[in-house]
Amino acid sequence: MASSSSFMSLTIVACLLLVSICSTNAQLSTNFYSSSCPNLDSTVKSVVQSAIKKEARMGASLLRLFFHDCFVNGCDGSLLLDDTSTFTGEKMAKPNNGSVRGFEVIDQIKSAVEKACPGVVSCADILAITARDSVVSLGGPTWNVKLGRRDARTASQSTANNDIPQPTFSLSQLISSFQKQGLSSSEMVALSGGHTIGQARCTSFRTRIYNESNINSAFAKTRQANCPSTNTGDNNLAPLDVQTPTSFDNNYYKNIVNQKGLLHSDQQLFSGGSTNALVQTYSSNPSRFSSDFVAAIIKMGDIKPLTGSNGEIRKNCRKTN
Ligand code: HEM
Ligand SMILES: *[C@@H]1O[C@H](CO)[C@@H](O)[C@H](O)[C@H]1NC(C)=O
Ligand SMILES: *[C@@H]1O[C@H](CO)[C@@H](O)[C@H](O)[C@H]1NC(C)=O
Repeated sequence: MASSSSFMSLTIVACLLLVSICSTNAQLSTNFYSSSCPNLDSTVKSVVQSAIKKEARMGASLLRLFFHDCFVNGCDGSLLLDDTSTFTGEKMAKPNNGSVRGFEVIDQIKSAVEKACPGVVSCADILAITARDSVVSLGGPTWNVKLGRRDARTASQSTANNDIPQPTFSLSQLISSFQKQGLSSSEMVALSGGHTIGQARCTSFRTRIYNESNINSAFAKTRQANCPSTNTGDNNLAPLDVQTPTSFDNNYYKNIVNQKGLLHSDQQLFSGGSTNALVQTYSSNPSRFSSDFVAAIIKMGDIKPLTGSNGEIRKNCRKTN
């Protein structure tokens, strides 16, 4: 009797433990596909490398896809679903429409992976590996990617509109937006270092270069030359990192210390508020930036994954099975 009741309580403790493991996403693991798809890493890497060789910016575009997927109901591949006459996805949401790119590269990766291991690897996991390989290909740090996410059968345009942070955001809005995803203000600053690569459209930074005062004036003039103050040239591009837009380094932080952040939101990180000191640290300590970025992007990859029998393994990243 006594031993059976202590067995019972042990069982209850074990179940509670399991539940807590499930809810902290410990079921994602770095070796998830090691027997079911042993060549996954090399398959993804070779497509990413050739895409970046063709166009260096593609590394930035691919990294951003992972961010925009994870921030909208978790890292579940929802961003990749195309709109149809009966389905509204996330691609036309305001932060994505005319801006996110790289879906053809994801298709290429998916078909290479399907050839090697049909029906095994999720599109959500492909985004996670692709983000890592893009950072590495552009000279940034590497990390072991946690895997085992499954793909959503749904998407939400309204959540994409609400949960992806906007370039007009203030520091406190940026902090809240990341906090909503379980990410701290320091993790927000580290992840913003993603803007050490890639490009933005004139429409995303026009107000900043014409109407803000905490901007280096020579820098503002240079940017104005290719971004008219009126509503023309909306899609004209400028590098997010004025110094090295195809190298994953800490120049992004040096720029904002020098009031050369391109987006209003970038400059907010160094505008006298609570994140000033960390920006200063990253601007002078590249290895500290690298290790904090890696820890934060791993944590971002843990946002609400579908696991177990939830979701599905899509055959085509653009549509549900
Ligand atoms: C902190 C809040 C953030 C805001 C407000 C923000 C906003 C933006 C905006 C407005 C653009 C330019 C879009 C365009 O004009 O077409 C952009 C580009 C980009 N963002 Fe962010 N972003 C944020 C965080 C992040 C994070 C966390 C990452 C990744 C770790 C990231 C990676 C990128 C990359 C790589 C690009 C360039 C993409 C390309 O060249 O195709 N961003 N972001
Ligand atoms: C997406 O962008 C295109 C081109 O700028 C525009 O015509 C269209 O109305 C936009 N769609 C939505 C849903 O905002
Ligand atoms: C700058 O601010 C003025 C005054 O508020 C406004 O009329 C103008 O449209 C703004 N220009 C840009 C490019 O945002």
